[in-house]
Amino acid sequence: MSELGSDLARRQAGDGTDLQRSAGIAIQPLDAEHARQTAALLDDLRVSLFGIQSARLYATLAADALQQRIDCRIATTGDQVCGAVIAAPRSYWLSTLVRHTGLAFAGIRARLLARPQRFAGNREASAPDAAVHGRFDSGPPPRTWADPGDAWRIIFVGTAPDARGLGVAAALYRALMRDRSLIARIAADNEPSIRLHRSVGWRLYPDGDVVLAVHLKPAIR
Ligand SMILES: CC(C)(COP(=O)(O)OP(=O)(O)OC[C@H]1O[C@@H](n2cnc3c(N)ncnc32)[C@H](O)[C@@H]1OP(=O)(O)O)[C@@H](O)C(=O)NCCC(=O)NCCS
Repeated sequence: MSELGSDLARRQAGDGTDLQRSAGIAIQPLDAEHARQTAALLDDLRVSLFGIQSARLYATLAADALQQRIDCRIATTGDQVCGAVIAAPRSYWLSTLVRHTGLAFAGIRARLLARPQRFAGNREASAPDAAVHGRFDSGPPPRTWADPGDAWRIIFVGTAPDARGLGVAAALYRALMRDRSLIARIAADNEPSIRLHRSVGWRLYPDGDVVLAVHLKPAIR
């Protein structure tokens, strides 16, 4: 069965929380013990930031999470890391490039190399379509990517392919959502991610050729 087929079969088999429990999946903040495995998962899932995908980037993200510059929660099954979510304040983008000039140069290089391809007839990204993705929220979004206010930007959420369909990403998000307002940008053709954000209750707005997802942390009474 294909990866997507087995993923769908697991979804149809029952509630994600039960599946997650029976698979022995636990959610925790990143700790030193799991830093290397988490960086390896980011590598496997080809996480991109500043236009870069590199081992140095993933090691930097893991180190910054351990120093609590950013918020990284991981999902583990046994001693294996099977999912991760990473959020960062808006200031992280500039401060990271100032602190890590190697990453800054790699980012500039990646942008310069990517530019000719953009004009070489690459597939145009299509705008989000409510007929495909379900209804979007109306009115202006309460936060934007450029002006997120107190919301932290999602750098990445992802689950290892063989752990998908067990509620891992939803559980990672629920843990993070208790503590923070959050904002994410999702490619319009990333239907699993759009469904994930909708299923955990984020507000969704079309935003150019991406979907903007917003979660506002409930006020404490
Ligand atoms: C998107 C992704 C994180 C989902 O991870 P996951 O652990 O399989 O998701 P969950 O099992 O927690 O599913 C949560 C919800 O998302 C929906 N969903 C996620 N993937 C789906 C899929 N392939 N097909 C149908 N629904 C899907 C489910 O409907 C579920 O909602 P439900 O509880 O109402 O059934 C995973 O597919 C992934 O890692 N993709 C590659 C990385 C990526 O694109 N990340 C997002 C962009 S930063």
